[in-house]
Amino acid sequence: MNIRSETILDYPAIAEVNTLAFGQENEAKLVEEIRHSERYIPELSLIAEVENIVVGHILFSYIDLVGEERLQVLGLAPMAVLPDFQRQGIGSALVKAGLEIANARGEVMAIVLGHPQFYHRFGFEPSVNYGIESPFPVPEDVFMVKPLQSYQQIYQGKVIYPPAFEKV
Ligand SMILES: CC(C)(COP(=O)(O)OP(=O)(O)OC[C@H]1O[C@@H](n2cnc3c(N)ncnc32)[C@H](O)[C@@H]1OP(=O)(O)O)[C@@H](O)C(=O)NCCC(=O)NCCS
Repeated sequence: MNIRSETILDYPAIAEVNTLAFGQENEAKLVEEIRHSERYIPELSLIAEVENIVVGHILFSYIDLVGEERLQVLGLAPMAVLPDFQRQGIGSALVKAGLEIANARGEVMAIVLGHPQFYHRFGFEPSVNYGIESPFPVPEDVFMVKPLQSYQQIYQGKVIYPPAFEKV
């Protein structure tokens, strides 16, 4: 398995992976919306490929953390692995690769809404532990933050997702 940043040639395969993993097209459309927005970070749209076939995808893009200041932090969404390739460590490898790139870029934190059991192993914790409020009425343990090396405790506030996420 190889992990690398996406290129234009990967766009159709990435849409397919998201559609098959989620059983709907909303997340594939979200990826396209983010690509067309100023929140897109090409380096952090990663694919996992096996024998040159795209089998997994993860996207980190900028969302807002609004406290005393408005800060751009990373939102992890969506992430998808083709059904036949799930539970083989591909999703985990994509998360780890993304967090390494994010650290190298000096990003402050990554935020995700997802399965606590899955994300806890990478160091994600409930956002409330860091004074960060979810914009969604969800249980505290599913809205999580992974502080990166550049994180400082002053980064607190409420998360706001950009318009690209409204349709999901
Ligand atoms: C979530 C997903 C990306 C994980 O990718 P993966 O390659 O299967 O993940 P890994 O093999 O690295 O890790 C497996 C872990 O993922 C979790 N997991 C995998 N599939 C899951 C599912 N359908 N529901 C809940 N948790 C799941 C489990 O905790 C599992 O851990 P375990 O094997 O120790 O029990 C993949 O299952 C997927 O595409 N699911 C459908 C789309 C989705 O829900 N994405 C949202 C992510 S928030």
